[in-house]
This record gives sequence, structure tokens and C-alpha cells, in this order.
Amino acid sequence: MNETKPAKFSQLIGNTPLVNLGNLVNKNSAKLYAKCEFLNPGCSMKDRIAEYILSQVQMTGKIKKGDTIVCASSGNTGCSFAMLGSIKGYSIIVVTSKKCSIEKQNHIRALKAKLIIVDDKSDYMEYAQRLANENGYFAVDQYNNPYNPETYYKTLGPEIWKQTNGKITHFVMTGSTFGCITGTAKFLKEKNPKIKVILADPLHSNIYDYYYNGYKKNNHTYSADKNKSYIIEGAGKYKPTKCLDFSIVDRVVKISDRDAILCCHELLQKEGLLVGGSSGLNVFAAKITADRLTPSDVVVTILCDSGIKYLSKIYDREFLSQNNINL
Ligand SMILES: Cc1ncc(COP(=O)(O)O)c(C=O)c1O
Repeated sequence: MNETKPAKFSQLIGNTPLVNLGNLVNKNSAKLYAKCEFLNPGCSMKDRIAEYILSQVQMTGKIKKGDTIVCASSGNTGCSFAMLGSIKGYSIIVVTSKKCSIEKQNHIRALKAKLIIVDDKSDYMEYAQRLANENGYFAVDQYNNPYNPETYYKTLGPEIWKQTNGKITHFVMTGSTFGCITGTAKFLKEKNPKIKVILADPLHSNIYDYYYNGYKKNNHTYSADKNKSYIIEGAGKYKPTKCLDFSIVDRVVKISDRDAILCCHELLQKEGLLVGGSSGLNVFAAKITADRLTPSDVVVTILCDSGIKYLSKIYDREFLSQNNINL
């Protein structure tokens, strides 16, 4: 009998299943599939970039065991670096904003990383960079680091191509660093330039405006108007990052918190899928896309992280009713 040797848990990053969400679309729609990125060991797709960036900077001698790594993150990249840092012997400092869910905060702290939460008026990305410069730490800078899109170009893109037998016609994804959409789309479009790429942007993010209008408003600062903040974490930005390549985007669609969150609950009721808000945002945008197409089309989107990370927010009725969302 051939015995298979069990892998180490941290080696199980990537190669996630693709699931059929046909139950969520109309009868004569396109096929709708989603990558289960929440099944990565750290419960999000960000394990992929943490693993790849660490391997690259280790190989090129930019870091050595015992060094300190600073990571600005809406939470998931921080979790992934904290997990791999703990296993591989690095000290991790994660810098995030108050928007980061308590579950993600606790996950990072449980992994013994240092967590710094900056106030609403500060830019946590600038804070992390300053901290690294002043102390000689290595800054991940996932927003501008070319290894970020390269990760998805080498892993997620090829997986989707293979799992759909090259039949994918539309790729729908939100963005925050935009590493995932840029790297995945670049790979897919090289395989088939006819594939359309749709960026799903939260209502009060500015990427839609940058894409269609160039962003011309004066006095635009990071500290966005409180009334215009949005609930979904890990999606949208006040301005494009260096990782975002607009040339691979064919369309940007705006999705509200309400539609994204109701879609999360629909995924849970109809499929048993407990996923985060950005996954609901993606699936809602992918559903609209699929319902405008025909059964020969194949729409693929991403279930970015686990809903376990947001039990106190988008799965908490009190939180939802405080935000005028009633199930
Ligand atoms: C839950 C979640 N969804 C989506 C994204 C967006 O991915 P990317 O940073 O590659 O644009 C992130 C990034 O922080 C995230 O944490």
C-alpha cells in the first residue's frame, strides 16, 4: 500500500478548491465559480503573499532569522506574517487601523506579534514605513511591493486557469493593495486576452473615480469623511497603489455594504459558506456579471477570507442593526 506522508500545516498554502455557486444566479446565467481562499492555513489568501515575500527576501539576503518585519495591513496580511514569522523565527510588528475586526486583532496577538493600532486620522501605511526607516526594520510594504502581484501571477492565476480548463471568461475581484487582481488578471489575460476583468469597489472607496474620471477633487486626505466610511474590510482604497495596474481592468463596479453583507448571508444560508465581507462584495458583483451573460460564459471570483474573522461585525445582528442593515 502506498503511504502518503502528511504535509506540515504551513505547507498547505494555495491550491484551494473552486466551488460552484450556481445556486445564487438566475437560470440562464453564466456559470459562477469561486476560489475558497479562506481555506488557507491563516484563513485568507494573504498566506500566499506572506509565504512568497518571505521566501524571496530570505533568498536575496534582505532578512535573516531573528530580524524584525513591519507589516501595514487591514489585518489578514498581518495574520499571515505573524503565523509564518512565528514558525520561521522572525519578530513581526503589524500596524493597522481601528477598522480591523477584534477577531483579526486577537489572532495577530495570539501569534505573539506586536500589534499597533493607529487612530482614524493617521495613515497606517505611512506609520509602518516610518517605524521601519527609524529602526532599520524590514517593511513588507504590500501596497507597493512587486512580489505581491507576482505571487498571484505565479499561483492563483494558474490555479484558476487549470481548474476551469481554460474556460474562464470573466474574473471579478475587489482590491485593497490590488496585488491579487493585478497578478491574477495578468496571468489570465496572457493565456486568453479576451478574458474580462471586473474590479468590485466599495461605495465609498475612490478607485471607481480614479478609473473613470481621474480623481480631481481637492483636499482629499486619508482621513475620509466619517459618514462615508464603509464596513467591509480589506476592500477599496482612497487612492491607487503601485501594485494596481489599471491596464488589466476592463470595468469597475460599485457595491454597497448592504449588498455585500446580504450576499454573505445568502452564501451562508444557501451554501453553508461562512466568509468575510469582501467575499460577499465579490460574489455580489460576480452575480450581477453572470446574470448579464449566457450559460457558455464562466465567471470566477474569490472568497478572500473566513467569516470567523467577522463574527462580531457582519454576523452580529446588533452590529448590523446599528448600521441600518436588517436581515
Ligand atoms: C479580506 C480581504 N479581501 C480582499 C483583499 C484585497 O486583496 P488585495 O490586497 O490583493 O487587493 C484583502 C486585502 O487586504 C483582504 O484582507
